[in-house]
Amino acid sequence: MPRPIHAEISLEALKNNLSVMRKAAGQAKIWSVIKANAYGHGIEHVYPGLQKTDGFALLDLDEAVRLRELGWQGPILLLEGFFTPDDLALIDRYALTTAVHSFWQLAAIADVRLQRPVNIYLKVNTGMNRLGFAPERLHAAWLEASANPNIGEITLMTHFARADEPSGINEPMALINRLCHDMRLPRCLANSAATLWHPKAHADWVRPGIVLYGASPTGQHQDIARTGLQPVMSLRSELIAVQSLSAGSRVGYGGRYAASRAHQIGIVACGYADGYPRHAPGGTPVIVDGRETVTVGTVSMDMLAVDLSPCPAARPGSPVELWGSQLPVDRVANASQTLGYELLSALAPRVSIRTV
Ligand SMILES: Cc1ncc(COP(=O)(O)O)c(C=O)c1O
Repeated sequence: MPRPIHAEISLEALKNNLSVMRKAAGQAKIWSVIKANAYGHGIEHVYPGLQKTDGFALLDLDEAVRLRELGWQGPILLLEGFFTPDDLALIDRYALTTAVHSFWQLAAIADVRLQRPVNIYLKVNTGMNRLGFAPERLHAAWLEASANPNIGEITLMTHFARADEPSGINEPMALINRLCHDMRLPRCLANSAATLWHPKAHADWVRPGIVLYGASPTGQHQDIARTGLQPVMSLRSELIAVQSLSAGSRVGYGGRYAASRAHQIGIVACGYADGYPRHAPGGTPVIVDGRETVTVGTVSMDMLAVDLSPCPAARPGSPVELWGSQLPVDRVANASQTLGYELLSALAPRVSIRTV
């Protein structure tokens, strides 16, 4: 029998989240962001739940090809564009839309023979300082793109650095409005946070990622608690042993937990090699046998320990939810000083995924 750990992907939750975001986005069309293998959920697994999207946005050419092979005939956007001029052959063959963030990419598109013009997302850097044309070069980039017969539709794109803050998009929006008043380009600006909380950034297309999976862009579950978004991934396992501790007994590597009284702990088949954060401290929430309890001691590669005091009926074989429908991933991430983004996308390949 395989280890009793698996991740469950709820297609109903995905469908629900897409429709929540559709309402939030108003008239804007939706690129469902499925980069990083759909934030750890698996492109093949989320695809059936996101059929009503307007397009899929991702990073890797091989992810785009996988999506076409699944049967998706609609738009696909490469969020970081292409990495070498050779990539243009596949972009052309699979009719992909590509971000363009640098002049070398414009030159590469001018130099290649294509079956049809390629649609591009011209990316401007509005303060993130990762990818994008410097604001003062945007006009020149747009002129060059407009004169290039290999380029079809041009859409303006930016990525906000602080859309999770109440006034976090004010400066970038002012910059875009100043730079682009004479360009008359469709716009695609908003990630999850801007789609939820900054309607003035909705424009023509939005690009939500994390919210489709039911986690919060801020890392705080309470910020999405009333939106109707639902957790998509439930990481489930079982107790594989129970230990009775006496007062003073220690647990796990380094003996970091010392029992202050006699009580029982359970050993869960889940460790950091499954994607559970090794730095999750004792006290991180976990659901055992349907009840919330906490982890104790250091997370090992394949196991972790939980306090069974709130669930005295738990036995080997009792179900454990590490995060998911009963325990928002944001709460586990919070305890571990990270974000749901990291926990979900770090699900290890050895964990099997099932859709429900
Ligand atoms: C360019 C771009 N657009 C959209 C997204 C989606 O972001 P989020 O998951 O916060 O909605 C990302 C993710 O980092 C991104 O890099």
